[in-house]
Amino acid sequence: MPTPTDTLKLGWIGAGRKGYEMAARLARGGCDIAVWNRTKSKAEPLAKYGAKVVDALQELAAKDIVFCMVSTWEDVKQVMGKLLENKQKPKMVIECSSISLEGSAELRRLLNEKQIQYLAAPVSGNAKVIKAGKLTFVVSGPKAAYEAARPYLDMMGVGSSYVGEGELSRIVKICHNVMLGVVTQSLCEITILAEKAGVPRHAFLDFLNKSVMGSMFTRYKTPALVNLDFHVTFTPKLLRKDMDLGLDAGRRFEVPMPVAALTRDLIQQMIGHGMTEEDFSTLLLMQAKASGVALKPENKEVGDGLSS
Ligand SMILES: NC(=O)c1ccc[n+]([C@@H]2O[C@H](COP(=O)([O-])OP(=O)(O)OC[C@H]3O[C@@H](n4cnc5c(N)ncnc54)[C@H](OP(=O)(O)O)[C@@H]3O)[C@@H](O)[C@H]2O)c1
Repeated sequence: MPTPTDTLKLGWIGAGRKGYEMAARLARGGCDIAVWNRTKSKAEPLAKYGAKVVDALQELAAKDIVFCMVSTWEDVKQVMGKLLENKQKPKMVIECSSISLEGSAELRRLLNEKQIQYLAAPVSGNAKVIKAGKLTFVVSGPKAAYEAARPYLDMMGVGSSYVGEGELSRIVKICHNVMLGVVTQSLCEITILAEKAGVPRHAFLDFLNKSVMGSMFTRYKTPALVNLDFHVTFTPKLLRKDMDLGLDAGRRFEVPMPVAALTRDLIQQMIGHGMTEEDFSTLLLMQAKASGVALKPENKEVGDGLSS
């Protein structure tokens, strides 16, 4: 069992949908944590859990461990540049955003030059999953650094998988999110197929979720698909970024990825139609339109498999 610890001083960069919930778990667990977010107001509610919300990124520079959870590699580069602007430097950086292998390797070089330990630690799970305590990390970098950071990673969810040195965790996360895109597209196709053939979505998904094909993911997406609640958990643009990272990696390692390529373009089509502000599971709406189905919320109470 992870034990709450306030031994080390933690810094946190990025209080977006994910970063906020992750930092909240550390603060609620009793950690000494200071948080910076570009839009400060989004981080401010973390003060109620005991986090210190700072104005300047440089205020995190002397912490023992600085976590980073922003959007893309370009954003990571910007915040890291500002963090290390002055002489002070943290002992360790744990970077959790979903970024490329190349970006992660560049960050490792930059941090190694300054003798800062670096763990690449992307995650699986949206904000709701974090709230339910089910976030998971995949981690790569020096094993000793991982062992030192592990109690904090454990406090944010169900634990972590250590996969080796360097940027190996990045490719694992990229593969994972390619599966997220592909599975979601498939789930939308078959749900619309069943509906057009006459089966209500809640009944179809009830069976699927109880079957060996059901998963934590299909269960927690069920309320969205049944009741058309597309409150954003992950944006179409962030998913496109991850599909592109997967396809880039496929080209680099010469691995054909035909299903991923097709799915990437379906997501692109959705973005091209201006569907950018809601959840990526609006792929269901695209599929319905392409199938001549006029979707209506079923207004059924269906479980998400997360809340008991
Ligand atoms: N949502 C999911 O289900 C999910 C699951 C696994 C992994 N991820 C990955 O986790 C990361 C965060 O996702 P999210 O859903 O939390 O995104 P989000 O809600 O859009 O939050 C993005 C965060 O990054 C900050 N940011 C972006 N660009 C910045 C810049 N140039 N300088 C400083 N701060 C910047 C934003 O600050 P502001 O508040 O000022 O905009 C915000 O705190 C992404 O890499 C995503 O691919 C997401």
